[in-house]
This record gives sequence, structure tokens and C-alpha cells, in this order.
Amino acid sequence: MNIDFSGKKVIVTGAGGAIGRASAALFAQLNAQVIAVDINAESVQNTVDSIASSGGSAVSLVADLTDADQATAMIDYCIREYAGIDVLFNNAGGSFPTPMLDIDAEEYTRLRALNFDAVYHASKQALVHMIANGGGVILTTTSGAGSAAVPGLAVYGSAKAGVNSLMRSIAIEFGKQGIRANAIAPAAASAGMLAWLETRPGGVDAYSAAQPMGRLGQPKDIAHVAAFLASDYAGFINGVVLPVDGGVEAMLAVPA
Ligand SMILES: NC(=O)c1ccc[n+]([C@@H]2O[C@H](COP(=O)([O-])OP(=O)(O)OC[C@H]3O[C@@H](n4cnc5c(N)ncnc54)[C@H](O)[C@@H]3O)[C@@H](O)[C@H]2O)c1
Repeated sequence: MNIDFSGKKVIVTGAGGAIGRASAALFAQLNAQVIAVDINAESVQNTVDSIASSGGSAVSLVADLTDADQATAMIDYCIREYAGIDVLFNNAGGSFPTPMLDIDAEEYTRLRALNFDAVYHASKQALVHMIANGGGVILTTTSGAGSAAVPGLAVYGSAKAGVNSLMRSIAIEFGKQGIRANAIAPAAASAGMLAWLETRPGGVDAYSAAQPMGRLGQPKDIAHVAAFLASDYAGFINGVVLPVDGGVEAMLAVPA
């Protein structure tokens, strides 16, 4: 298999972060024109600079995707500047585990806006153009917390369960128009989650040892799956929530 995204325009959100940066780099390495989006101007520019230094093609776009207008404008920008969009990878997201009763109304709204609303608004706007264009691919980084509960992730997990459902809905509603929509579900992948794991008893090492494969995920584990799912080799994969977690979702955790 030889994946080649020549001529394809790929939006990666959260491209200044761990998984987004690895994904943007891989899409660019596979000849895509990458539009790297993040709220953090410096980190997304670092991603673009690193891609450019490897000979890839990427531009940065700074947007706060918790704002529905900015999520929509991100798509319009690509249509205007690049005459289309072939792949939308909704990857921005996250949450620091917090007891449910400690999450105030403002934080609730922010978490839901980042982890669900942004995906909805960007996907809806992308669909309009993809349908007119004869097809496209929508991917979202969800989380194992969208399928099973994790302490401290009530709002985040609910939002991720929502995007799982949204990807399935898009898959069945627009499949005949050439759209595929899928979700990628990491459990714990190092980098983005390290700050949280440091708070666990025994820290990152103990947490890693307890994983079925004895290690955490790496950003590139997710990036490889994103590239595959965006490619024609995954042309009949539609509406799945794919765990990329080394077996975490398969494991029944029992109290020691
Ligand atoms: N790392 C993990 O263990 C793990 C596990 C399960 C799911 N995920 C999911 O993977 C995705 C990527 O996570 P990561 O580990 O790379 O985290 P990360 O924190 O390294 O990256 C997230 C990126 O999103 C950006 N972002 C945050 N708020 C934004 C906003 N309002 N608008 C635009 N961009 C914004 C951040 O600036 C950051 O660059 C997230 O959706 C996360 O929920 C990660």
C-alpha cells in the first residue's frame, strides 16, 4: 500500500498539540496540502515550520473553535483559499480530569463547546462543500472516555460520546453522497495527557505498566490510523469508532 494525498486539502485541528502535530506532519509527508488549525498561534506555527523544513506543504490558521462562527469560518477559509476541502480531521479537544461537582457552568460550556459543538459546526459546514464536490472524509479524535466512563471526565466523556454518535449519523446520512465519517478513540496517549497522568499514584510509569501492551499510545499511533482512514484504502470503512488504545477498551478493569 502506498498512500498518496497529492492534490488533497486536509484540515487538522489541534495541530499545535501532540496528536495533531504528528498527524499534520504525516499528511504533509504523504503529499497533502495541510491546513493546520489551533488556538495557540505559536505551537501551530511550530508545526507548520517543522513541516516546511521537511519539504511538506502546510499553512497555519489560528482559531478558537469553541466559537461556532470561527469553526465555520475555518471551513470557509479553505474553500476560499484552496478551492475545496477533502479531509476534515476534527482533532482539537481535551479535558483535565475534574470531579463532576467541581465543574462550574462556564467550564461545562467550554468543555462541551470544544469537544462537541466545534466538531458539529465544522463538520456541518464541511459537508456542504464536500457534497457539492462529490465526496470527502470527516474524522474526529474521540476518546475511550466516550465509550466507557472515566473518573473526572463526565462532561468530556459525554461530549466524546456525542461525537461518536455524530460521526455515525454523518456516515449513514451522507454515505451515498461520497462522504465517509469515522472516529478514532485513543485511551491514554503520551504527551497531551502526561500532565494528568503525573497526578496518578505512581505517575506515568505505573499507569503505563498497567496498560495491556505495557505502554501508552504515541501520537504517531493515532496519526497512522488517521492517514489510513482518510485514504482510499479505507474506502468502505464508514461510521466506526475505532479504538487505537493497545487493548484498553477490550480489558475489564477489576478492583485489585
Ligand atoms: N492524549 C491522550 O491521551 C488522548 C486520549 C484520548 C483522546 N484524546 C484526544 O485527542 C485529541 C488531541 O489531544 P492531544 O493529546 O494531542 O492533546 P494536546 O493538548 O497536545 O492538543 C490539543 C490541541 O488542541 C488545541 N486547542 C485547545 N482548545 C482549542 C480551541 N478552543 N480551539 C482550537 N484549538 C484548541 C490546543 O491548543 C492543543 O494544541 C483531543 O481531542 C483529545 O481529547 C487524547
